[in-house]
Amino acid sequence: MITVIGSLNMDLAVKMDVFPKQGETVLGEQFQTIPGGKGANQAVAAARLGSQVNMIGCVGTDSFGDTLRNVLQQEHVHTDTITTASVPTGIANILLYNDDNRIIVVPGANYELSPVHIEAAKEVIQQSQMVIMQLEIPKETTEYALKLCKEANVPVLFNPAPAANFDMRWMEEITYMTPNESECLLLFGDDFEEVLKRYPNKLIITLGSDGARFFDGEYPIHIPGYMTKVVDTTGAGDTFNGALAHALVEGQSLDEAVYFANIAASLSIEKFGAQGGMPTLGAVYARMSGCEE
Ligand code: RIB
Ligand code: NA
Repeated sequence: MITVIGSLNMDLAVKMDVFPKQGETVLGEQFQTIPGGKGANQAVAAARLGSQVNMIGCVGTDSFGDTLRNVLQQEHVHTDTITTASVPTGIANILLYNDDNRIIVVPGANYELSPVHIEAAKEVIQQSQMVIMQLEIPKETTEYALKLCKEANVPVLFNPAPAANFDMRWMEEITYMTPNESECLLLFGDDFEEVLKRYPNKLIITLGSDGARFFDGEYPIHIPGYMTKVVDTTGAGDTFNGALAHALVEGQSLDEAVYFANIAASLSIEKFGAQGGMPTLGAVYARMSGCEE
């Protein structure tokens, strides 16, 4: 079983041809209200591939919160450890312009997830084969969860997004860490070769369509990505993380798991919405073997 400790957001996504300048009004092409949040996305990614997934998070007592919980249940994610708070459910305002996406997150209820909730979900954490975390919940909650995982010897896959909320002291407690290039730059500086060597088999830098890199203790490893047509890259990183956790828990080696996660992420960007294109296991293997419909 995989446990995700993280955010649930309703994504308010606007697709546009023209990006407004300061003070300007433009017409957008399409608007959709779609379930998201890095935590929930990573939970759905792993569950679609067949993992048993448990979600620890917090939503408001509003319609967005109800929808987010229901959607996770439909995806077979266990939601007993999702609590509620009397502040609005988190939202993300997503602006899709060409291949670019810009996201403004208003955390709302996600910032009400406290160490008390983590403590209450202790048994679920202790029984997990892997815990996945990101940075859209309060710092002290992340810290408390890391402490519990360490005590229970549960491996942690940490996706440091958004990176500004990361505390370097956590590096020791983390088993796998998956920054993208800009997060890596912010956290460790621009010498990626050196920083990869410093964290062998732990730091995996994701490179978008270029795949991902890590250092295996002896050699630098680059696992290439799979080139495909982009519809919406929102949630590509989340798909990568959910798939990586799934593959690692299934016992795949790190290079196999990263390859598997790259393929899953490539499928995810072919559809609109963070969770929209997240693949099933069959779809990943079909692409790997070149047997797609
Ligand atoms: O990683 C993509 C996600 O980040 C979106 O679904 C949005 O909710 C933000 O949390
Ligand atoms: Na997508």
